[in-house]
Amino acid sequence: MTNLPSSQSRSALIGESLEISISVNGANHALHVNPRRSLADVIREDVGLTGTHLGCEHGVCGACTVLIDGEPSRSCLMLAVQADNTEITTIEGLADADGTMHPIQTAMHEAMSFQCAFCSPGFLMSTVALLSDNPNPTEAEIREELSGNLCRCTGYESIVKGVETAVRLIGSKS
Ligand code: FES
Ligand code: FES
Repeated sequence: MTNLPSSQSRSALIGESLEISISVNGANHALHVNPRRSLADVIREDVGLTGTHLGCEHGVCGACTVLIDGEPSRSCLMLAVQADNTEITTIEGLADADGTMHPIQTAMHEAMSFQCAFCSPGFLMSTVALLSDNPNPTEAEIREELSGNLCRCTGYESIVKGVETAVRLIGSKS
């Protein structure tokens, strides 16, 4: 039978704050966080970047997607302490420092890929990962790769069109 910690030790564990070091969009952050807090909450509340949205908070909608060491991850499902010593990219890190939009942002803007835009950060970050792995995806591949992101408004057609526009934009620049 598993030995559970006493209520006193559980309280101590819950109250404990651990130091982590993360890079977010190229800026280093040394933070003290409760080990129970999600990465999404720490990005939004401690780092102050609220572009990462929280929808379902249990791994279904994809709104909280960020890149961790280049890989798309659901920041609502990950504990902040698990991200120690990683490089994180959020939606705020896509545009250039002078405000010039990332080609994927430009493409989705041109294709009017969003309505309320609550889902946008997740779709954009998932698209960055998709085109990094597969710069010329078919429509079927786009739909498959983005199937983990949910949108309540668009019916997805304009989002797929936005990704196809991004493929053309990026291809014309290379
Ligand atoms: S908020 Fe993370 S998957 Fe929905
Ligand atoms: S544009 Fe509203 S949820 Fe996608």
